[in-house]
Amino acid sequence: MTTEFLLAPSILSADFARLGEEVRAVQAAGADWIHFDVMDNHYVPNLSIGPMVCEALRPHVQVPIDVHLMVEPVDRIVGDFAKAGASWISFHPEATRHVDRTLELIRDHGCKAGLVFNPATPLNWLDHLMDRIDLVLLMSVNPGFGGQKFIASALPKLRATRARIDAHAERGGQPIRLEIDGGVKVENVAECARAGADTFVAGSAVFGAPDADGGYRGIVQAFRSALAGA
Ligand code: DX5
Ligand code: ZN
Repeated sequence: MTTEFLLAPSILSADFARLGEEVRAVQAAGADWIHFDVMDNHYVPNLSIGPMVCEALRPHVQVPIDVHLMVEPVDRIVGDFAKAGASWISFHPEATRHVDRTLELIRDHGCKAGLVFNPATPLNWLDHLMDRIDLVLLMSVNPGFGGQKFIASALPKLRATRARIDAHAERGGQPIRLEIDGGVKVENVAECARAGADTFVAGSAVFGAPDADGGYRGIVQAFRSALAGA
């Protein structure tokens, strides 16, 4: 099992009028990934940013861009995000007609592929495709908005997913990251880590707590300290 913890600030809660600056500031503070939430007002009841914004940000981003697709259908947009510089592309299995094909499409474009589970989505989507994924993303809120409250049932679900990932690794399988997204804060991040998460999305908790100079070193450090004690 990997013990490397990664912090992935979600730019959904950044100041969209200054997105380039915000991304540079959060990287300077030590963000490991940039989490990029894509919403289509169809799969989720909100509309956010697409491949053109990803492409515009790419020159400002040295770390991997972690694209979280909340769109339906999925396949049409995968190539656009790969071209726009996405490193990881994750999608919700209910939002695509052929889950295995979509995973293959993402990997064929040279990106890492992830599967996202809503709070009520059962883990048995994983039954036949552990060898086809690089990441499992568990939602600890219903997707569509930043700033929602962490749903506690995500913790036993993290433990169950961690058990599946570790069993897969023991059978000689490829590494799979376990990411948690929604309502993650300094106060609950260690509990998520103890339940098995190794990658942590935080939107409002990071971008809502700037330093006096507008940077994010303080809050990123607070996350790191909390994780060090996990
Ligand atoms: C919600 C998004 C999240 C969101 C998290 O649909 O997938 O990535 O930005 O925001 P917080 O951390 O504020 O819950
Ligand atoms: Zn997200």
